[in-house]
Amino acid sequence: MADAAPKLGFAAFSAPPKGVLILFAEEGLKFGPATRKLLSPAGDLVQRAAAAERFTGKIGSTLDIAAPTGLSVSRLFVIGAGKAGKLKTQDFAKLGGSAKGKVPSSATEATILAELASGAMKPEHTAEIALGVRLRGYTFDRYKTKRKEGEDKPVALSVTFAVANVPAAQKAWTQRQGLAEGVVIARDLVNEPANVLYPEEFARRALELKKLGVEVEVLDVKAMKKLGMNALLGVGQGSERESRTVIMRWNGGKKGAAPVAFIGKGVVFDTGGISIKPAAGMEDMKGDMAGAACVVGLMHALAARKARANVVGAIGIVENMPDGKAQRPGDIVTTMNGQTIEIINTDAEGRLVLADVLHLVNTRYKPEFMINLATLTGAIMVALGVEYAGLFSNNDKLSERLTKAGQTTGERVWRMPLGPEYDKMIDSKFADMKNTGGRYGGSITAAQLLQRFVDKTPWAHLDIAGTAMNSPQNEINKSWGSGWGVRLLEQLVAEHYEK
Ligand code: BES
Ligand code: MN
Ligand code: ZN
Repeated sequence: MADAAPKLGFAAFSAPPKGVLILFAEEGLKFGPATRKLLSPAGDLVQRAAAAERFTGKIGSTLDIAAPTGLSVSRLFVIGAGKAGKLKTQDFAKLGGSAKGKVPSSATEATILAELASGAMKPEHTAEIALGVRLRGYTFDRYKTKRKEGEDKPVALSVTFAVANVPAAQKAWTQRQGLAEGVVIARDLVNEPANVLYPEEFARRALELKKLGVEVEVLDVKAMKKLGMNALLGVGQGSERESRTVIMRWNGGKKGAAPVAFIGKGVVFDTGGISIKPAAGMEDMKGDMAGAACVVGLMHALAARKARANVVGAIGIVENMPDGKAQRPGDIVTTMNGQTIEIINTDAEGRLVLADVLHLVNTRYKPEFMINLATLTGAIMVALGVEYAGLFSNNDKLSERLTKAGQTTGERVWRMPLGPEYDKMIDSKFADMKNTGGRYGGSITAAQLLQRFVDKTPWAHLDIAGTAMNSPQNEINKSWGSGWGVRLLEQLVAEHYEK
């Protein structure tokens, strides 16, 4: 079975609605003029149903009326939009997600009327609703060959948005569609098992970005050896699958202008290596490449709408396995920038991968900033739970911008401290540093190691171990792999880095 992505289209307000009809009401059961007109053949049906159900249009609430008298539709849902003046961008995506969630799986057609009490929604808001519909509609069932008893046969759903201005809405959606696809790509990569998605296969999927005009370069083991990326290679040396680094470039900005750079941890499977993890829940470690998945999804989103920015995406892709050839605790590796790391615990592997990729990107591209994403530490979930990603940064401006983009998109980040007191916790007896910092402040000492590879470049590290997989489901995400970060970073680029 394939992901049953709903087909999205646009029509004028006046077009007769089909299938399942979805309308929005503001608090006080207020409707816009086009909605009232559409409802007029039904008389006071909605008002009576609303009174009976105590539905007033509060945000998050819905009214469900089957076979509404006087209307040609099979079912009517009225979704509460609360006080529309208070709606932020991400709230529109949530409304779209709620709308999609109401459509029964057997329905083939749905119409969403893009109007609030004050009148037609802005095209960007309609597009945001469409984004919510698409993301809510995501399923990962390509490995399911059977249906459960009583489960509907999956049918293709067409969702039509009834809008005031069809070309404007269509254009806004064209701008937003690539973002939806980017999140879907990230989710697919995270959900995919490691026997299918090994480093070479991951690189092949990144190569698909070439179709959008992204330059994609794949570094194989030989190329990485030549560069001296021994920290990354050490992690992958216990695996039958060869490591890769993939560098993606989108040059939509001024020629020669410094790029912005995104770096992702791509551990396709993290057994822990010789410091092997316990069996319980180890299957989740197929998602230890969520940082890299986000970078690929982001590059897709930016290229699809031809973002006016120069962007580098770089991902280190390895498999962390125990084997006769695997690296040992006590081993010392020399990284690409010449610093040495003593391996205390082979399960603290993500920082080793990122150290080399951060240095490579920093020296090769001299970026305006570097943001890395990684499912780096279990400790970040102990600190923050699974609602916020941990943000570590050497730059207040970048931190503030990320924090604000988080509030706009709902992919929230919380800044954590860095400092010399923490940094010295990773000094080693035998090498320049060690790859663990002891029991306390585990997420911080991991970040400190990364910081030793970024020099003076503005940099932020997002620890997404709690948010990228198995995170709380919401209106726009029912998937195990959430695709976390694609929307956040697309927003950051759009708001601050497009000339
Ligand atoms: N990939 C894990 C972190 C992780 C744990 C992500 C759970 C998602 C869910 C990382 O490589 C790891 O194993 N970190 C260790 C570090 C420790 C050995 C210093 C950890 O967090 O326990
Ligand atoms: Mn690990
Ligand atoms: Zn890991």
